[in-house]
Amino acid sequence: MSQSRDCSSGSCSGGETGKNAKSAVEEALERIKRKIVVLSGKGGVGKSTVAVNLAVSLSSLAGYRVGLLDIDIHGPSVPKMLGLEGTIMQPSDRGKLMPAEFGGLKVMSIGFLLPGEAEAVIWRGPAKAGAIKQFIGEVEWGDLDYLIVDCPPGTGDEPLTVIQTLEKIDGAVIVTTPQDVALTDVRKSISFCGQLNLPVLGVIENMSGLVCPHCGETVNVFKSGGGQSMAQEMRVPFLGRVPMDPRIVAAGDDGTPYSYHQSHTEAGKSFCDIVSAIVEKTATGDERREIRR
Ligand SMILES: Nc1ncnc2c1ncn2[C@@H]1O[C@H](COP(=O)(O)OP(=O)(O)OP(=O)(O)O)[C@@H](O)[C@H]1O
Ligand SMILES: [Mg+2]
Ligand SMILES: [Zn+2]
Repeated sequence: MSQSRDCSSGSCSGGETGKNAKSAVEEALERIKRKIVVLSGKGGVGKSTVAVNLAVSLSSLAGYRVGLLDIDIHGPSVPKMLGLEGTIMQPSDRGKLMPAEFGGLKVMSIGFLLPGEAEAVIWRGPAKAGAIKQFIGEVEWGDLDYLIVDCPPGTGDEPLTVIQTLEKIDGAVIVTTPQDVALTDVRKSISFCGQLNLPVLGVIENMSGLVCPHCGETVNVFKSGGGQSMAQEMRVPFLGRVPMDPRIVAAGDDGTPYSYHQSHTEAGKSFCDIVSAIVEKTATGDERREIRR
């Protein structure tokens, strides 16, 4: 990657002031119908995988106009998962940034603005908050049916800023794995949503059992079903389980999202059902579209 910008100072937008940046955010938000954030208290549970596959399913399989915003400032993984590494963002004629594209999906990640893959970002809270606001207001999102936001793990500055900036969010998708330790952290994410009055669309139990590549049987490596009982206990909906499938890792590494090619596999099918459930919860009447398998 050959580009470096200081997003925190406003140079992304050619030097907008705080006041203008706010109206840019408002202007952008007026054109976005639905907003979904993907959260988890725990790292490495599959948030980015879920966010990317949800965005690609809504866009490629259901034909919605979709934006995917990666606000994981310390470990952006969306560019790699979509094969968009090395993208140099182009300015629009209004002096904003054109998002990267995957098919029709519009993508913005801090990864596009970092000088190198291995570069560490050291930003304090206010700089992070400024950057996240610019990712919304200073990117040409246009008219969107859905904006999907991939958050870093935990309940820190980034999810807090994005939730406060986006204002009326349709809901959070919370990703967990079956292990108990992960579940404790995920309870924190659910109460975080409660404190911020953010509806929980539901919990996904990811890496729930392993599909054996030899015989196709599902083996429960960790205890399966913990996500569902936790969701019941916390009184939030359960969206479904996605088994561990080595092809998901390969798809993530190759930049070819899983849902794009593998919708006939067990993991792909559970994913389609989860996306349909999310559409069911967020779309209204005639807008509701089928997810094509
Ligand atoms: N169902 C699955 N089966 C197999 N591998 C998976 C599955 N879900 C995710 N993975 C793999 O697990 C790893 C972590 O996934 P991912 O990056 O989506 O997690 P994350 O929660 O976003 O992590 P971080 O907290 O670092 O942002 C990736 O290599 C991904 O390909
Ligand atoms: Mg991630
Ligand atoms: Zn087997």
